Amino acid sequence: MTIKLNRNDPCWCKSGRKYKACHQAFDEKLMLAAAKGHTIPPHKIIKNAEQIAGIKESCKINIAVLDYIEEHIHAGMNTAEIDRIVYDMTTKMGGIPAPLHYQGYPYSVCTSVNEQVCHGFPSEQVVLQEGDIVNVDVSTILNGYFSDSSRMFCIGEVSAEKKRLVQVTKECVELGLREVKPWGFLGDMGQAVHDHAFANGYTVVREIGGHGVGLAFHEEPWVGYNSRRGQEMLMVPGMIFTIEPMVNMGAADIYVDDENDWEVYTEDGKPSAQWEIMVLVTEDGHEVLCW
Ligand code: MF3
Ligand code: CO
Repeated sequence: MTIKLNRNDPCWCKSGRKYKACHQAFDEKLMLAAAKGHTIPPHKIIKNAEQIAGIKESCKINIAVLDYIEEHIHAGMNTAEIDRIVYDMTTKMGGIPAPLHYQGYPYSVCTSVNEQVCHGFPSEQVVLQEGDIVNVDVSTILNGYFSDSSRMFCIGEVSAEKKRLVQVTKECVELGLREVKPWGFLGDMGQAVHDHAFANGYTVVREIGGHGVGLAFHEEPWVGYNSRRGQEMLMVPGMIFTIEPMVNMGAADIYVDDENDWEVYTEDGKPSAQWEIMVLVTEDGHEVLCW
């Protein structure tokens, strides 16, 4: 049940401002969209200025960790070393690696190599080889605020084919990002991502998407890419979500390792790439918080 606020009541967003000066007009716009049949975001995923500031601090750690890995990743390194770096750097900066013990996940980071789509387990046995492409997915909790982003790394000389997959996947995220603006729809973004992958002869994983993030690791909405312009949830100021398409060189089909129930692979064994950014919808467009 929601209790209707009076104009002079404190706003539900906990900004401390009066409802009429804060989210009243916003709510009226939401109601109108809902009446038209659109999916509207719940209040609990709309962040206020203080929360956004806290989330940005968390993002600083995520970015610093990924920057460090970018400089130090190399052929001959095993992915357990990456896990150690992530744990040590994150905790030294006062954060907690969000993946660690998340729904039983046993490591501080996901390292997904070549045909591994996501949630790859770091391991002493996985030694990075010249020609590999690897996704390093880092997520941080700082003072209760969550950040989440990932990058692709090419190890030494990588085939032109794989390089193009990595590049096009990054372009998918950039093109999707252009569609992020207040009072647009998540499907505007999703279709842009999907169209670019498709135009390049690739497929996008259907089952795993992005997500709201900030006050929890995974919040509403679920962010897919098989969506269409003008559809899915309305994007509004104060929303934060990830854009993180997994783009496959071959077919879109995937399977989950049945021994550990985490690691995801392409069914056809062809490579997969992913970049993940965290984006804030602002009053006049968007701001990338983490990449
Ligand atoms: N970082 C992943 C994401 O983008 C989360 C993986 S869950 C984990 O949503 F437990 F593996 F970390
Ligand atoms: Co994510």
